[in-house]
Amino acid sequence: MNTVQSTTITTATAPGCEPRLLVTQQGREDLAAYRERDGYRPLADTDELLSEVEASGLAGRGGAAFPLAVKLRTVRDNGRVAHGAVVVANGEEGEPASIKDRWLLRNRPHLVLDGLRLAAAIVGAAKAYVYVSEPESAHSVETALGELDPDTFGTTTVSVVTVQPGYVAGEETAVVRAINGGPAKPTDKPPRPFEAGVDERPTLVSNVETLANLPYLQHHGAASYRSQGSPLSSGTFLATITGAGRPTVLYELPHGLPFTELLALHGVSPDQVRGVLMGGYFAGLLNQRVLETSLDHETMRRFGSGLGCGAISVITDECPVAVAASVLGYFDRENAGQCGSCFNGTAAMAAAAGALRDGAATTEDVDRLRRWSVVLRGRGACATLDAATNVAASLLDQFPNEVAQHLDGACQDCAGHPFRADRPYAADAVRQA
Ligand SMILES: Cc1cc2nc3c(=O)[nH]c(=O)nc-3n(C[C@H](O)[C@H](O)[C@H](O)COP(=O)(O)O)c2cc1C
Ligand code: SF4
Repeated sequence: MNTVQSTTITTATAPGCEPRLLVTQQGREDLAAYRERDGYRPLADTDELLSEVEASGLAGRGGAAFPLAVKLRTVRDNGRVAHGAVVVANGEEGEPASIKDRWLLRNRPHLVLDGLRLAAAIVGAAKAYVYVSEPESAHSVETALGELDPDTFGTTTVSVVTVQPGYVAGEETAVVRAINGGPAKPTDKPPRPFEAGVDERPTLVSNVETLANLPYLQHHGAASYRSQGSPLSSGTFLATITGAGRPTVLYELPHGLPFTELLALHGVSPDQVRGVLMGGYFAGLLNQRVLETSLDHETMRRFGSGLGCGAISVITDECPVAVAASVLGYFDRENAGQCGSCFNGTAAMAAAAGALRDGAATTEDVDRLRRWSVVLRGRGACATLDAATNVAASLLDQFPNEVAQHLDGACQDCAGHPFRADRPYAADAVRQA
């Protein structure tokens, strides 16, 4: 294992996995260092690069794993009709348990900017934005922009937009709304950003890790990109691992790595593992069956879960009921308060799960929680309610014994000091450093 201690975030790669993003270095990579790695290579043929992106199978790293090539092609084509397109590197990283995007922005701002440059060239964008909420990330990108020749981006103008952090602030319609001068809160869809986004132009909103893969693709091509990963989940990905009483580590891993191998890297015995919270707070809980999984989209889907943004919190000593109650409490506080179903639904689910944690719930409360976890799915302007229903449904499905113990008031873990956290498994130490 190749381990690097950066100023604030410990990074590591799996044995035999040549890092593409977490390359060995200390601190911010400046322009000279990035150019030494062959960055900002001239791009002669945008269609050729788009074909490579398509052949690579590169999927978005912001949570939904949507194919980047499809978004690029759609925004390019819509932009031709609308006489202009916009590209946005989404580095807001609202998931408390994730640290990858700010690592890239702080340490490899030129890699992100190079990816943004390539995306802008493919879609023919007149404007490009880097959208962040963390001051250190903003400073790093501003400094990198200051180092660049003005013509690096051709005729595309590049701006950094900084917003207040929040769980919903990185949702794509919130991103567009904030760049257009409004609050960083989601709007109804349609239109989606690829139809009408910033300045009403077709807009590509892509996660910074997604874009950071483009320079590798330009340099090495799709076949090399696919030399790591599984057939349906190509390449490497960044995984923020929290929990298990261990310090947070940011890993670059090949898709398809067995979960038990990640545990070994992280120094956690499989015997300790009760389950995981997957995809940050989005994909819900998974019980000990996680030990049978590998880290790729197809396997995670088969287990009813998801990799999401690659944040995985390993649950060892905490009671899963208490973990779910904390996460639902977070959604209750962090939802944008715009949609009745979400505002009321997250409050009701948080209250039911909190009562269950505290031994004050009845079977009717649990039945209600189960019903809400079904009927509230898909409601609201953004997918926050889906995240909350994932957490509630997975708790009830994956941990029936713990739920029953709580109904009987017999959970030993929660007897004295139940797990309570405003932002469970938040990568706080590194966020504040
Ligand atoms: C509630 C909510 C919050 C989100 N927060 C982020 C975020 O912080 N960063 C991010 O890149 N994507 C976030 N997303 C996903 C974006 O809407 C969008 O799908 C993503 O930026 C697209 O990039 P990708 O295709 O590269 O994954 C969020 C989605 C939802 C529903
Ligand atoms: S679904 Fe919830 S978080 Fe999303 S916009 Fe509506 S109120 Fe806000």
